[in-house]
Amino acid sequence: MFKFSFLLVFSLLFYHNEALNQLCSVRKAEKNCICKRITDSEDLIATEADCVRTNFDYFPTSEQLPKDLNLLDLSHNSLTKLDATETRFSSVTLETLKLSYNAISFISYGFFAEIPNLRILVLSHNNIESLDSDEIFQKNPKITHLDLSFNFIHVIQAATFSPLVELQVLDLSYNNHSLGESLSQVRTLTDSGLGINPNIVRLSLDNIGLKDVQNGFFSNHTYLTHLSLADNRFTQVPRVPYSVEYLDLSGTDISVLQAKELSYHTLRVLRLERMKMLETIHHYAFYNLEALEELSVKHCRNLREFNELVFGALQKNEETNLRKLSLAGNGLQSLNWTYKYLFRSLDFIDLTDNPWKCDCDILWLQEFENLYKSENVKCSSPLSLRSKQLFDVTDENVPTCYPQKYGKKSHRVLIAFLILLVLILAALVGYLFYYSPSWWSGNRSRGIGPQSPYSASRIGEELT
Ligand SMILES: *[C@@H]1O[C@H](CO)[C@@H](O)[C@H](O)[C@H]1NC(C)=O
Ligand SMILES: *[C@@H]1O[C@H](CO)[C@@H](O)[C@H](O)[C@H]1NC(C)=O
Ligand SMILES: *[C@@H]1O[C@H](CO)[C@@H](O)[C@H](O)[C@H]1NC(C)=O
Repeated sequence: MFKFSFLLVFSLLFYHNEALNQLCSVRKAEKNCICKRITDSEDLIATEADCVRTNFDYFPTSEQLPKDLNLLDLSHNSLTKLDATETRFSSVTLETLKLSYNAISFISYGFFAEIPNLRILVLSHNNIESLDSDEIFQKNPKITHLDLSFNFIHVIQAATFSPLVELQVLDLSYNNHSLGESLSQVRTLTDSGLGINPNIVRLSLDNIGLKDVQNGFFSNHTYLTHLSLADNRFTQVPRVPYSVEYLDLSGTDISVLQAKELSYHTLRVLRLERMKMLETIHHYAFYNLEALEELSVKHCRNLREFNELVFGALQKNEETNLRKLSLAGNGLQSLNWTYKYLFRSLDFIDLTDNPWKCDCDILWLQEFENLYKSENVKCSSPLSLRSKQLFDVTDENVPTCYPQKYGKKSHRVLIAFLILLVLILAALVGYLFYYSPSWWSGNRSRGIGPQSPYSASRIGEELT
């Protein structure tokens, strides 16, 4: 149980036969590796050679390294090819080989055959353009992790991955878009003929030019739990296996999200970031994602509304698995107060960088002042509160929201109106009194009346 607390690391200083490990040194040096033997109190667990950033431009031979090597890390060097005819490297103990950040553009088909017990192979950030031999992994049935991301791969020979019967994790992200375009044309990933193990659990296909795939595209890969499809050209949510727990659709061209496309009862993490086209999230869109723990809808500038029903109608004592919600960097102006039922049970909420409208409808959020980065939750309107932090908005800034303190707005309007009316009347009375005195005195006796010289009777007499 406490095995790992007894881990001891011996540097090669303790190696007896230094001549056989001529590339090992105690310190990092040009074309040298730090070799380690990792043991617990009794047993040797692993022998590792760390040759990172040491300017290797050739692959060392097996004789130059400890012969029971388990891990060889040659990342960040300047290897350009893996050529079995030039390199004399073979090992039956090596299980992990890391070659990322080199300039490898050529792999001869016999190279990995000399490392038959390889389990983890990292070839990311190289210049590989194609895997054009289906024999390249022929002798490597034990590979479980294969990382080919950040290369220029545009073509992969049919059946290249077929020998990898134990493959669990495959990363093909960030390769030439021709790769995704050709994949988009087949009915299922199986039909692509690449021979990707149907039991694979993690698959990353980010930024390879995938377009909307057919509904059954992933249907043969029913053990997938982690599926990353970011930065592809999807305009609709692709149908993915029901086993999926992690799904990344960031950077795609999807404009609408609706419930019928998101009915994954085991999905725990959903990433929807940088989606320029995303404008609408329908009512109940996330309602079926019962297991959802983390939702990230970030940097979707055209998303102006996150309506009160995207998780369904929120109840007072909302029962939810959701723990983290990020809505940062969208175009949101408001959030319905019913979200407080949800927010009270969350561990992490990010509402930063939205054009919040600081009116009465949003002040409920002030209950959550200890939000993550609450200082970046700023008002964008009204103009008088622009750039003010939402949590610094006081009742004096928005007096209309506090009728009990400042009176109801309708009352204040009425009072102002009455005062105005009284003033107008007073002014009118004053005007009449001072500027038309005749109306009050002199003219009073004039006109037609009993004492008037023009009395009705007299007029009548004159006429007759
Ligand atoms: C992608 O591959 C095609 C051949 O399919 C090639 O013409 C194009 O230049 C490649 N693009 C990049 C960016 O490497
Ligand atoms: C793959 O799934 C399709 C249905 O989408 C099915 O017809 C086919 O038989 C499956 N192939 C394999 C090899 O399981
Ligand atoms: C908030 O949601 C409730 C419940 O759906 C609704 O009745 C109310 O009108 C909404 N409030 C605003 C300001 O939209």
